[in-house]
Amino acid sequence: MKKVKNILSIYDLTSKEIWAIIQSAIKLKKQKKSKFQLKGKTIGLIFEKPSTRTMVSFSVAMCQEDGTPLVLDLKKLQTTRGESIYDTAKVLSRYLDAIIIRAFKHSSIEEFAKYSSKPVINALTDLEHPLQILADLMTIIEKYKIKNLKELCKLKISFVGDANNVANSWLAVSAVLGLNFLLLGPNNYAPKKELLEKALRIGKKTKANINISNDIEDIKRSDVVYTDVWISMGEEKESVERHKAFLKYQVNDNLLSKANKNCIVLHCLPAVRGEEITASVMQKQEDNIFEEAENRLHIHKATMIYLIK
Ligand code: CP
Ligand code: NVA
Repeated sequence: MKKVKNILSIYDLTSKEIWAIIQSAIKLKKQKKSKFQLKGKTIGLIFEKPSTRTMVSFSVAMCQEDGTPLVLDLKKLQTTRGESIYDTAKVLSRYLDAIIIRAFKHSSIEEFAKYSSKPVINALTDLEHPLQILADLMTIIEKYKIKNLKELCKLKISFVGDANNVANSWLAVSAVLGLNFLLLGPNNYAPKKELLEKALRIGKKTKANINISNDIEDIKRSDVVYTDVWISMGEEKESVERHKAFLKYQVNDNLLSKANKNCIVLHCLPAVRGEEITASVMQKQEDNIFEEAENRLHIHKATMIYLIK
């Protein structure tokens, strides 16, 4: 039996696969007419948390390739009445060709994937947001006209803020691809020891240059400055202490004056202007940030074609 390919983490993909999916997405974006490569395929989307980009771009990606997306309202599934993940995964994977899940706990999607006979894709958990990072990389590759991995590895990519799901996936992709990556933020919100150790261990083999810092001066020579919200979904209760801790790490004109002059700023969105990024930076970097959001669509298309065509 063919082994099911899940994407729960960036570590589920090799460097070759990451590069191939991004290149395929770039091609699909340029293509004038759809080749309807997902005809007859159906995916299910299960979201425990809100989503605008991921849910809509996955759905549109399927429709444009002549497949069918089913957005499954969690409240209407029997899971709300206590049906187990085991039974749900066993049953849904007999109907669907892939299941896209956004969950609070990463362990929930791992459990689902364990019993699913079809690919399970992480659409964000407390641990990672892998497909977001593929769209981010695609944007960087387009903006800097990168031709190969070697050129990509020369760019300095700095993530500023909370070492949460998005940052964890950046750490992982830096290790897998061998990127030059800085994670800049307050000590209390640095990556978990085991995640950092894993990235450094894998990154050693790929010659990645991964650095963690709390000193904003280290933003110097950055080609890409990336940020994410200070208060992620589900962390609302920590609002007061988080605002205090991250204040110094706002992506504003002053911080950017320390980076490369023409650096690009990316944000996974949704953004909170006046918190992790100023309205002025958002406005100046709009073309990059909304292009990044658009690229979610192309990446989802390329990923689904790769996994289930
Ligand atoms: N960036 C991202 O995943 O956005 P949504 O929460 O809107 O899906
Ligand atoms: N870190 C954010 C990302 C949103 C796409 C969150 O988890 O809410």
